[in-house]
Amino acid sequence: MKLTLEDLELTTPLKGKRVLMRVDFNVPTEDGQISDDTRIRAALFTINYILNAGGRVILMSHFGRPKGKPDPKYTLRPIADRLAELLGKKVQFVDTPISPDLEQLTHEMSDGEVMLLENIRFYPAETDPENDPTFAETLAKLGDIYVNEAFGAAHRKHSSTYTLVPYFDRHACMGFLMEKEVTVLHAMLSHPEKPFMCIIGGSKVSSKIKLLSSLLHRADAIFIGGAMANTFLAAQGHSVGNSLVEEDYFATAKEFRQLANASNTQIYLPTDAIIAPSIDSTETQTISLSDPIPPDQSIFDIGPETITHWKNALEGSKTLFANGTVGAFEHPQFASGTNAIAQLLADSPAITVIGGGDSVSAIKHLGLDARISHISTGGGAALEFIQHATLPALEALPSPPTEEAAEADFL
Ligand code: 3PG
Repeated sequence: MKLTLEDLELTTPLKGKRVLMRVDFNVPTEDGQISDDTRIRAALFTINYILNAGGRVILMSHFGRPKGKPDPKYTLRPIADRLAELLGKKVQFVDTPISPDLEQLTHEMSDGEVMLLENIRFYPAETDPENDPTFAETLAKLGDIYVNEAFGAAHRKHSSTYTLVPYFDRHACMGFLMEKEVTVLHAMLSHPEKPFMCIIGGSKVSSKIKLLSSLLHRADAIFIGGAMANTFLAAQGHSVGNSLVEEDYFATAKEFRQLANASNTQIYLPTDAIIAPSIDSTETQTISLSDPIPPDQSIFDIGPETITHWKNALEGSKTLFANGTVGAFEHPQFASGTNAIAQLLADSPAITVIGGGDSVSAIKHLGLDARISHISTGGGAALEFIQHATLPALEALPSPPTEEAAEADFL
């Protein structure tokens, strides 16, 4: 476990300190408007905690993927406005370049004030720290303490998440959101309440195989849906018509089944499906997967029999992890499977953890998010954490002193 804000406060009171905090305000937008402010809300607790303790908060975040130069499409200005609304206080939005002038501005702040810097990815050295090693150093001068609250970006080895950390020595820690994300995912991986079951969807085996493999030795059962299941079915010899498959991954899919057998992990694939001639077509049919799919038809969702079968098999699970959707849920005619899984997760008495991405959108769309134990704010970061049990931005942070070291310091 890495140093927490509460650990750090034991030796370094926050009053009067400039706290440089990396957040992940990379929020979804529609027509330039924030369509989901969850990531902003998720950081409020830590921001308010620091402000109430008399600290000064300097926030930095990325937004989108600008190409290392200012781009009005990716300005954080609207995010500063939303943050001010949510905090109920002024947020000083600063587009002054990262420079000694900006450092001076941070020194002029009063206790309890908040500043948000313009998109950190407007600088090429953010995503490519080697491009300018002085960037992280200049950035680090903007705070006396560094708090990393950006779980969603913790898999990135960037200047603001990784390279600047050593400049803070032991004055660097996790924020409360980061701490919660890490604690929940770590508990799920290292000592889940059993049976531990996982529902993994998505379109490609190639992008999920590492996740599947890392769950293999931990989960009691894995339910595979989405277009990814087509590859597993086709690899077993089912004719899946015109469905999306990754032929290059047939061998991987077969090997995965063998490994699952060897590790006593039950694998569930769909037993029926909703098919149509194309994703835009409303001429859908339900078909049993014991029958061949006609060559002009594709699978776009799991069928009702699969839903019932999976529901029964998931009964009794104590920990449930879900990632990805089991059908093309953005198209209402193929949303039944994803909606049923979302409902099942919400109704389940198990500890339910959702690992980012489309599965989160589906849960939120149905208004079921409050009934899930933990919805990760990180998509890619959550998946990488599950695979590696750590992340680069976490590794960079100092650990709390061990009891022995603390005793040695005392003597
Ligand atoms: C995300 O949305 O997954 C994070 O904000 C990371 O964004 P990135 O993939 O552009 O680094």
